[in-house]
Amino acid sequence: MTIRVAGIGTALPEKIVTNDELAQSIDTNDQWIRDRSGIGQRHVGGVTSELATEAGIQAIKNAGLTPDDIGLLIVCTTTPDQQLPATSAVVQRDIGLSCGAFDINAVCAGFIYSYVVAYGQMLMPGGPERVLVIGSESLSRIVDWSDRGTAILFGDGAGAAVMERHEQGEMLAYDLGSNGELQDILYADHGGHIKMEGREVFKRAVRAVSGSVEIALEKAGMTADDIDVVIPHQANIRIIEAVSQRTGLSMEKTHNVIEFTGNTSSATIPLTLAEAERNGALQPGQIVLMTGFGAGMAWGTAVVRW
Ligand code: ACO
Repeated sequence: MTIRVAGIGTALPEKIVTNDELAQSIDTNDQWIRDRSGIGQRHVGGVTSELATEAGIQAIKNAGLTPDDIGLLIVCTTTPDQQLPATSAVVQRDIGLSCGAFDINAVCAGFIYSYVVAYGQMLMPGGPERVLVIGSESLSRIVDWSDRGTAILFGDGAGAAVMERHEQGEMLAYDLGSNGELQDILYADHGGHIKMEGREVFKRAVRAVSGSVEIALEKAGMTADDIDVVIPHQANIRIIEAVSQRTGLSMEKTHNVIEFTGNTSSATIPLTLAEAERNGALQPGQIVLMTGFGAGMAWGTAVVRW
């Protein structure tokens, strides 16, 4: 029994904030932001559960299914609507699902963690036939818009994938990791803003992601040349380039949305999957590598046959 992604959906708030607009209130400029991060604009606004619901409904529709077909919902987010209940409860009601639902918070690695957990659930005896996995964030609520070190990076959005049992598609290998010793370099307290040591996060991220990619490739018995499609977490284009240099993953095969969305944490990987699908890159049999990292630090890589 194997598992494929049957449908992908996305949601981005209508409001766009360009680098030039940011430069009106903080000491920065479009060229600096583009050169240092690859970001040109970000979408801002919306509520995590609302964005998740929109992306989830679209993913179910694109899979040719109805809400009744979904056997489990996982919402990954680091910006839940409330402390309780879980955001997944709100999304379950608003999509009209009748199944188990829970949240995962692994920050920007959330979608990889959720994908792996969903896969495992489907392999359990009596497990669901289909799982809806949604990454959704309203990071603009926890960004300090007067801090040029972080305000330039983050945005809001959601991406969703319906995973289903099918003869096409399978997980070949995965790696999950975390190092809680590094929580001080990137965190937000309850009711507070994102605090980040940018240079340190950059350095640690490159190291963690490169190591994770190498472990996952080794477990899959593959090399970087075997990968057809690379879907990296969208935090900084220079991090993606540095990982490509270290691991040998081809930049030509790497898909990115960061220029238009900024860093949307757990939503970046499904948003980038949607972009790869639009480009016709996600064909049955293709070897796809997804990799993410974020606060914790937590990271994860999955190598799948599409
Ligand atoms: N505009 C203009 N100048 C700036 C800005 C800005 N927004 N920010 C900093 N500068 C200045 C600095 O003051 C410094 O000036 P100086 O040389 O005179 O001292 C210079 O630009 C270089 O600053 P650095 O902080 O060294 O810039 P760096 O190249 O490291 O880029 C950045 C900063 C973009 C934040 C980068 O460090 C980065 O992307 N780090 C990783 C962040 C990340 O990925 N976070 C998300 C992780 S995922 C998650 O869990 C949410």
